[in-house]
Amino acid sequence: MDKLPYMRSVSPFRYPGGKAFLYKYLHGRISCLPEGARYYAEPFCGGAGSAVILLKLNAVDEIHLNDADPKVFSAWQAILENTDRFAQAILDTPVDLETWHALKKVVEGSSEPSFELGFATFFLNRTSRSGIVIGAGPIGGYDQKGNWKIDARFNREALVERVLWLGSVKDRIKLTQEDALTFLSKSTKRLDLERTLFFVDPPYVTAGGRLYLNAMNEAKHIALSDLLQDGTLPHWVLTYDDHPLIRELYSDRPIADLAVTYSLQKKRKEQEVLINDQAACA
Ligand SMILES: C[S@@+](CC[C@H](N)C(=O)[O-])C[C@H]1O[C@@H](n2cnc3c(N)ncnc32)[C@H](O)[C@@H]1O
Repeated sequence: MDKLPYMRSVSPFRYPGGKAFLYKYLHGRISCLPEGARYYAEPFCGGAGSAVILLKLNAVDEIHLNDADPKVFSAWQAILENTDRFAQAILDTPVDLETWHALKKVVEGSSEPSFELGFATFFLNRTSRSGIVIGAGPIGGYDQKGNWKIDARFNREALVERVLWLGSVKDRIKLTQEDALTFLSKSTKRLDLERTLFFVDPPYVTAGGRLYLNAMNEAKHIALSDLLQDGTLPHWVLTYDDHPLIRELYSDRPIADLAVTYSLQKKRKEQEVLINDQAACA
């Protein structure tokens, strides 16, 4: 595990609380799966920071990405299905306040998946504070008087490179837009469970504001716990906010502390927990 190269971002998205940094740990868990084809699935994928690194390292044959949010789904779909058009849009779109306001209207006005919604979501993710698509202002502020300007995180060449690479491996990326609980239930038919690691990173139990869609409530957090712990899915890793409900629901499992960076600018860290199935190998 120590011999793994240090991987900088591979995902084209910035994600508040993103879990790309867990890739070495997840790689260790994957290496415990039986030899041969191996799969990795994220029911709450967001920017899928770890998933794409693991694919790039060839640690897994396929990644299965799911997110209920039409914005997130559209962005991934546009990258995978219209790769060249997406790359061209990254090169051609002016990165300024005018575009930011125009694409904000697109995001606020659409709920059906489309290329336009996908590109607008990506653009706002790269140009808004902390990568928050709805509810945050542009990097550098509305007057652009901040130290960083709106294009500080929009390195066209680097982003095009990531998008083109994703297009080149799209046959190994399966994308869905389902509720996470439906996705997990359906996985029993879609995936070879003995060969699949599920990485589950749900929204916080404590409604922490408006970072991203939160289509979970207490009943669903409990249902997720039932599903994960009924023995159907043999290999999973779960991260959550450190909340009494979670400590109670998973009291029979190993629970480790995890500090996760939410805002790079303000270096804000949140205390989370990492929970394992008990089949973790040595
Ligand atoms: C904590 S983020 C995941 C971040 C991701 N692990 C990463 O590294 O980028 C949670 C994601 O779950 C999605 N989501 C929220 N409720 C959902 C649900 N009920 N089913 C599926 N996805 C959901 C949100 O749209 C969001 O992208």
